[in-house]
Amino acid sequence: MNEFYQKDIISIKDYTKEQLETIFTSTDKILNLSPFDRREICKGKTLGYLFYEPSTRTRLSFDSAMASIGGNSLGISDITSSSTQKGESLADTVRIMSIYSDILVLRHPLDGSSRFAAEISDKPVINAGSGTEEHPTQAIQDLFTIKKEKKKIDGLKIGIVGDLKYGRTVYSLLHGLGNYDVDVRLISPESLRIRSDSTYEIKKRLDLTETTDIEEHLDDLDVLYVTRIQKERFPDEEEYLKVKGSYVVGLDMLKRMKDDAIILHPLPRIDEISADVDKTKNAKYFEQAEYGKYTRSALLGMIINENGF
Ligand code: NCD
Repeated sequence: MNEFYQKDIISIKDYTKEQLETIFTSTDKILNLSPFDRREICKGKTLGYLFYEPSTRTRLSFDSAMASIGGNSLGISDITSSSTQKGESLADTVRIMSIYSDILVLRHPLDGSSRFAAEISDKPVINAGSGTEEHPTQAIQDLFTIKKEKKKIDGLKIGIVGDLKYGRTVYSLLHGLGNYDVDVRLISPESLRIRSDSTYEIKKRLDLTETTDIEEHLDDLDVLYVTRIQKERFPDEEEYLKVKGSYVVGLDMLKRMKDDAIILHPLPRIDEISADVDKTKNAKYFEQAEYGKYTRSALLGMIINENGF
């Protein structure tokens, strides 16, 4: 039996380096299969999604991942059109969804929401973003992108810039990187520094430097992971306006970076990477979005098939 069979994906902290490497190997396998053979992997299976927050890539990549391996998906992407509006609890909605599907994907504004859903659901639950806490499948996609584009993860110097306080992708990425030997520079405005309560453990495993100054690190980085300022999570608009546009990665910055440095972003981008960076060989955020489809296909294939694929 493969170790991911019928298992939830709630937190990246639950994975060892060996398990992450198994996911990457399965993703490579997906990439090497013909579209015809891929469609056999989850033939006739249904993915159910519940998105209590907006999403473009995550939901569509799960949709398209499931379709490419022969399954189908159904769900609610705009919760205002569901019975939640009538007062139905998350627990009941999850219970119902687990009747209609073989695997559940949940995005919800509350920390702990996916763990809670997994306790209720009879079917495996994948966390597609829980509050400011975690976004584990994004981290798997980010790590896979780094590995594909840089041919390794160990030994790299990685800058993470932007909203490190509210950006859940940052926390999942940091915990994923904790399995590797990397040098991480955390670059943010003072008010958006990484939350110390959520990084207490990771600080023991990772070589972390915190700074507000991106300039002093540019020439040294192999990877620059840019994040959006999470406007919707600020309790006060005034506070958001103070940090809006703090860092904008443009061609001027890129010139000062290593020739083979890569720029990543979980997307959506607002103004933190200027559009003229898109056509450079360093910009890998659209490839990153594409890899997300394949890492998700691999995860779904392993969760649904007892003996893998
Ligand atoms: C991220 C998220 O939802 O946390 N988006 C995504 O899934 N790619 C990042 C963000 O919204 O800034």
